[in-house]
Amino acid sequence: MPLGIGSGTGNAMPSSLIVTLDGPAGVGKSTLARKLAIALAIPYLDTGAMFRRLALELRGNADISEQKLRAVFAGLDFTLRVENGESCLLCNGMPVGHEIRTEHVGLWAARIAGNAVVRTILKEAQRAVGARSSLVAEGRDMGTEVFPEARCKFFLDASPDVRAVRRLKDLETRGEKHQLADLAASIRKRDALDRERAIAPLRPAADAVIVDTSDLDIEGVFAVLMAHVER
Ligand code: DC
Repeated sequence: MPLGIGSGTGNAMPSSLIVTLDGPAGVGKSTLARKLAIALAIPYLDTGAMFRRLALELRGNADISEQKLRAVFAGLDFTLRVENGESCLLCNGMPVGHEIRTEHVGLWAARIAGNAVVRTILKEAQRAVGARSSLVAEGRDMGTEVFPEARCKFFLDASPDVRAVRRLKDLETRGEKHQLADLAASIRKRDALDRERAIAPLRPAADAVIVDTSDLDIEGVFAVLMAHVER
């Protein structure tokens, strides 16, 4: 089932279930969003991947006119493919891959995320997907800005040190070697950019369930989230 992302809101159907998952870098949102989506048999949208892919295209610099930004975005044809319950974000027909998952591109993404036009363009695209389908939407502003009407909202948190250790393990499984201190510094820098930007800063929605994941493993957090969704 392919879902177009960048092509407007034509023929929108009312969304039946939107679950939002927000939180800072390295808190485990992607893994949990994927698991939730599979359990609920609905698609999963990784909005950070959209910011990262656009940031890669812009090489971290969104300081250009709205017209140019829209032209760059128009060249990125995002679609969401769901096969056997697994969602995959495609850009121009290819799965968005490892090239966007580096710390460097993460920082570029956090930098361009402060740009009002970038946020508007991506919000339009993300809402278009939610208008067509039920969704687990993961990011920084899903519950506050993009899907404020969502029925089920979560905000995951953990200390920067706990998140740095998780990130180190995650990167190691991808064959990337990093120093823990460097990752902790990068996470703190990204936290500052995400939490302190003027537009759509990272914060829990007033009606979000806040889950401190510091002392829980993925299965433990998943059980908490599922219990809330089922309720
Ligand atoms: O979730 P992530 O680490 O892949 O996100 C990368 C950056 O993209 C993040 O630091 C800030 C930005 N982002 C955002 O501003 N809003 C979102 N909904 C998702 C990501």
